[in-house]
Amino acid sequence: MKMASHTGKSLSRAFHVAFKKSNHNHVKVKNICCIGAGYVGGPTMSVIAQKCPEIKVVVVDINQERIDAWNHEDLSQLPVYEPGLDKVVAQARGRNLFFSTDVNSAIEEADMVFISVNTPTKTYGEGKGMAADLKWVELCARQIAEASKSDKIVVEKSTLPVRTAQAVKDILHNTGNGLNFQILSNPEFLAEGTAIPDLENPDRVLIGGDDTPEGREAIQALVDVYGTWVPREKILTTNVWSSELSKLTANAFLAQRVSSINAISELCEATGADVEEVAKAIGTDSRIGSKFLKASVGFGGSCFQKDILNMVYICRNYQLNEVADYWEQVIKMNDHQKVRFAKKIIKNLYNTVSGKKIAFLGWAFKKDTNDTRESAAIYVADYLLSERANICVYDPKVPKEKVFTDLDYLNTRSSEENRKLVSVVNDPYEACKGAHAVAILTEWDEFKILNWEQINDLMLKPANLFDGRNILNSSEMSRLGFRFHAIGKADK
Ligand SMILES: NC(=O)c1ccc[n+]([C@@H]2O[C@H](COP(=O)([O-])OP(=O)(O)OC[C@H]3O[C@@H](n4cnc5c(N)ncnc54)[C@H](O)[C@@H]3O)[C@@H](O)[C@H]2O)c1
Repeated sequence: MKMASHTGKSLSRAFHVAFKKSNHNHVKVKNICCIGAGYVGGPTMSVIAQKCPEIKVVVVDINQERIDAWNHEDLSQLPVYEPGLDKVVAQARGRNLFFSTDVNSAIEEADMVFISVNTPTKTYGEGKGMAADLKWVELCARQIAEASKSDKIVVEKSTLPVRTAQAVKDILHNTGNGLNFQILSNPEFLAEGTAIPDLENPDRVLIGGDDTPEGREAIQALVDVYGTWVPREKILTTNVWSSELSKLTANAFLAQRVSSINAISELCEATGADVEEVAKAIGTDSRIGSKFLKASVGFGGSCFQKDILNMVYICRNYQLNEVADYWEQVIKMNDHQKVRFAKKIIKNLYNTVSGKKIAFLGWAFKKDTNDTRESAAIYVADYLLSERANICVYDPKVPKEKVFTDLDYLNTRSSEENRKLVSVVNDPYEACKGAHAVAILTEWDEFKILNWEQINDLMLKPANLFDGRNILNSSEMSRLGFRFHAIGKADK
């Protein structure tokens, strides 16, 4: 792949004309490398490989265990659980989809390199607890520069603070053996739990790049990849900064809707209104729309909180304090909702949970994923454990050790103590047996069809049921004898 490096205005115009003439013949991507085989890199690249059999896609990661799991013969052992992912992997893996730890070879061979590594909130130094930690992105840029022997298009797939592409460009241009690198921003909008349908049929694909002939050529190369299966009118192209900021903005708006309806849920509980009725009434207004109006114990996941905090940090850097305060409130409301749920459990168990068994149904941050990052369950559990509750967890997809790692990570108490107070079981009925209360933390479909009568029989009385996801029918549950507490509804 050769990229032109004309700089003069007329030369640029001449190039643009030539570019337009030959247009699609310019850069045809044949080899893709994706750095980061996580919840985004794995599913995204699997779908690209499935849809574009003529492109070789190599997904690399420094985590050997993760790569081994991606290569596991038994598809139920893939490191990411997503409905339909196993079939996509089965179709493409070994054909044109490969998972490897040989990062340098994959970079060298590729004409397009995606950066899909984690960008968590910083846990140290300046910006601690707010800014995105770009350590892994910078390492990727340096490794791309070092391993490259030909020009490359580098695609930011990770969610990044606006203007990160400048830093990536700077590193590549200063350490990259004089090669040409075009930087594109292509944020991912998939939602965990529905990643495969989201990737197969996205609302839109966003690609940001430089408004130069080389930039437009790179954009076109990526448009062509997605164009294999995504209708062209759904592929939006913008400048790099707009693309980077659009991802942060999308997550901020989505999270804001959840915090807004959760705020109303508290008002419903105080007034006797029903949050589901309110959500329906406002959601039918086409200006508001019905999605993301489900009241709950609070949002979780690796993205919403991290991306809003990151945006708040950026705003503060530009001294936009009112803007920062506005968005920070979305996080504060979410924290409040989790604490409120925990306090409600305590209050209804006669103001003490010490030594009492509380069953947690669900640990993942939402249904149909095994991801637990920032899951509301972790924080509700932590609050109750500080009140010396005994918690018994059942989640259909989260392994036992993950529950303990999540709690240990908070550093609230020793890991021995966490193991003493918490147990994890493989059967929901066992979790509920002898419990003073059952709390639903994740909206797994299977919880709706449990034998709730049997669960009531297994529990100590009065049997308190806290539905943190509003998945059960309140009249039915109170008919079965539960003291039923939903979000945003009067207790039954
Ligand atoms: N999870 C989501 O739903 C989602 C959705 C949209 C965007 N994003 C964004 O995508 C990015 C990745 O998220 P994720 O959920 O896939 O994270 P993840 O933690 O699941 O995966 C990241 C992977 O990158 C690997 N990695 C880190 N540094 C590396 C290096 N130098 N070389 C090779 N591998 C390296 C890690 O080992 C890890 O396996 C983040 O910026 C996130 O904000 C996530």
